[in-house]
Amino acid sequence: MTATESALQPQPVPPRAPTGASLPPPTLGPAPDWVRGATPIGDAGFLIEMVTKHAPATMVEIGVASGVSSAVLLYALDRLPDIPGGRRLYSCDIHPACYFDATHATGEAVASMYPRPRTEWILDTNIDTRRLSQTMAPSSVELAFIDANHYHPWPLLDLLHTTVLLRPGAWVILHDTNLPIVSPECSVWGAKWLFDEWPFEKIAGAGAARNIGAVKLPADLRRLIPFAASLIERQWEFAPTLWHVALPTPFEPVQDLVRARIELGE
Ligand SMILES: C[S@@+](CC[C@H](N)C(=O)[O-])C[C@H]1O[C@@H](n2cnc3c(N)ncnc32)[C@H](O)[C@@H]1O
Repeated sequence: MTATESALQPQPVPPRAPTGASLPPPTLGPAPDWVRGATPIGDAGFLIEMVTKHAPATMVEIGVASGVSSAVLLYALDRLPDIPGGRRLYSCDIHPACYFDATHATGEAVASMYPRPRTEWILDTNIDTRRLSQTMAPSSVELAFIDANHYHPWPLLDLLHTTVLLRPGAWVILHDTNLPIVSPECSVWGAKWLFDEWPFEKIAGAGAARNIGAVKLPADLRRLIPFAASLIERQWEFAPTLWHVALPTPFEPVQDLVRARIELGE
């Protein structure tokens, strides 16, 4: 195992300080120079706010790339009070190497930005949301961050797959919710449509770009079906295959629409 691979393994939790001793506050280092396309500093502030507010014991992150957002999330989770059993961040990506520079491992920036998290970090770079939703325990996650394939209908499908893992009423943070406006050269609408059309509670991140936000799941997931069915009818920017889509209950009607659309070869 190389030093980098070793650094990317879940870090052991260091021994607790004796009662009464105070631990130094965690500090987060800067992103390394080689990083591209990571969550910018203002949006990282929104991630920290959401983690602080919802204090998840278990969180998932879909889309890691360099690992900048993983480092921010680990830092935010470590600032929360200790809980029995500790806290966990599951970070998943489909690529073991950075999509913009294969000489860097996915998640590598964590080793320099935030090298010794107390939160357990489980990084899997050979998994997508469909498989994650079939491997983790149902309702075991309190907060999710989706920053993966932004082409419609992927953000919607990722969110629907994630619902099986999330507690009722959980929040899902979405990145690049204003991407086509912030970067007109990158006209990719999936995350923006998902956020803009979300019919339930949602909040947009502060800052001029408003390129990050969060949506709250309804307690009864069946209420998402009409919204998802309507969004799935929009022009697809990057068609999934049936292998990629195995929507959990109660989204069978949406799965049927996806299957019909894929079989039509759209
Ligand atoms: C914009 S980058 C993530 C940036 C990262 N969140 C940050 O702020 O540092 C998107 C990542 O999503 C990954 N990805 C694309 N499709 C995916 C999928 N279906 N499931 C999981 N990860 C995916 C890509 O390999 C890429 O590394």
